[in-house]
Amino acid sequence: MTPSEITKLDRQHLWHPFTPNSVWLDPSTPIVSIASGQGTWLTASDGRRYLDGNSSIWTNLHGHAHPQINQAIRQQLDQIAHSSFLGLTHEPAVRLAEQLIHYVQLNPQTPTLSRVFFSDDGSTAIEAGLKMILQSFAQSGEKQRTQFISPKGSYHGDTVGAMSLSHSPAFHRHFQPILFPTQKVMTPSCYRCPYNRAKPEKADARLTRKCNFECATQAEEAIHQAGNQLAAWVLEPRVQGAAGMVMHPHGYATRTAQAAREVGAKVLLDEVFTGFSRTGPPLASHDENVVPDVVALAKGLTGGYLPLAATLTTEKIFESFSGDPQHTFFHGHSYTANPLGCAAASASIDLLLQPAEIQKREDLAQNMSRLASTFWIHPNVGDVRQEGTILAIELVTDRASQTPFPTEKRLGAKICQTAREFGLLTRPIGDVLVLVPPYCTQPEELEQMVNALHSAIVRELGS
Ligand SMILES: Cc1ncc(COP(=O)(O)O)c(C=O)c1O
Repeated sequence: MTPSEITKLDRQHLWHPFTPNSVWLDPSTPIVSIASGQGTWLTASDGRRYLDGNSSIWTNLHGHAHPQINQAIRQQLDQIAHSSFLGLTHEPAVRLAEQLIHYVQLNPQTPTLSRVFFSDDGSTAIEAGLKMILQSFAQSGEKQRTQFISPKGSYHGDTVGAMSLSHSPAFHRHFQPILFPTQKVMTPSCYRCPYNRAKPEKADARLTRKCNFECATQAEEAIHQAGNQLAAWVLEPRVQGAAGMVMHPHGYATRTAQAAREVGAKVLLDEVFTGFSRTGPPLASHDENVVPDVVALAKGLTGGYLPLAATLTTEKIFESFSGDPQHTFFHGHSYTANPLGCAAASASIDLLLQPAEIQKREDLAQNMSRLASTFWIHPNVGDVRQEGTILAIELVTDRASQTPFPTEKRLGAKICQTAREFGLLTRPIGDVLVLVPPYCTQPEELEQMVNALHSAIVRELGS
């Protein structure tokens, strides 16, 4: 098919996620159709090449068409593509489960996770986690524990349970009537915190914050107040991705998880985005030695190749499902533990653990930190924050007042559209621009990404 045939048929028959139809169907909107990928690069069907600046929506870890992952999938395909996981097992799932447990136990302070439940994506990994916790409490004589608390802006996916745990009105407001009530506490965002007395500086607001850690105190208070009604404290540790790459002050995860433990509630961590070394350590929660009861993993699990997710939990929760057949976990999916996905994930974890790959990630994070200063030059940049290989640039009308641009201006979206002309594909969250490159990104490729994004800012806002 020619590029224009693809565009025509797409507009005729397809419906894209998180995409305003008015923009997509507007004939003046250029449509990029991806034909192939190699390393950090994506090639469109018209032959144009783009750097994958957000790792294909935060999924890709080692680059596209990685020889080891390709080979693992091919080998598995020659055996079998899929069989049921209901009442059967297979080697790729068993191998991956062992690797995952080893991987999350790399922090010896948090050796609690020992069981893996597979599903298909981030939303279903969370859905399984919250149902596991509820059923486990019900079977352990604590039926009253049905409440969940999480920070404002949290995003855990689009299934009904995951939406209920989220506090993301822009995405979920139409579904509010069918969501179950959950409690929210203030977002631990130093940049936009009403308690932070520090004046804006050209530095990550977390580093200059002047406060009494009110965000952690408020969460602790809400958790203690919920007491024995609380089922779980739910947290995207270190970074709330879809909230706008809100990066938490160090200590928030530890304090809040500790409070949950004090009232006998579970700690449900959403590491769908932050897992697999995106923030540096194997899990973002390792940075704060958080001891979780349930961890949801997806996105990077297969290195960004195939839809597979995992919900990891403790022996204690698993054992609460023993004995009575009525205690079965009646939850699952047709494609649970898909062997192709498991094979890709095993190859990806092997890569993650190689010393040379660890070094690459550290170098990439350091280079990102060095190049991030480029963005401070622009007067409309209010905050530049980084965690591992996640870089966020927040745009404001005025740095001193931190005033956001009007939403209807869709400035972030326009800048990212312009960045395509400079060879970069990435997606903003409102007016927060995002760079989440694959770990294989070379220094010169990173420089190209930063220059493309900076040039797009200048094109839209002037210098
Ligand atoms: C932290 C977090 N949890 C859950 C999800 C949902 O994952 P999925 O889109 O794979 O369902 C996302 C997606 O962006 C996420 O960022």
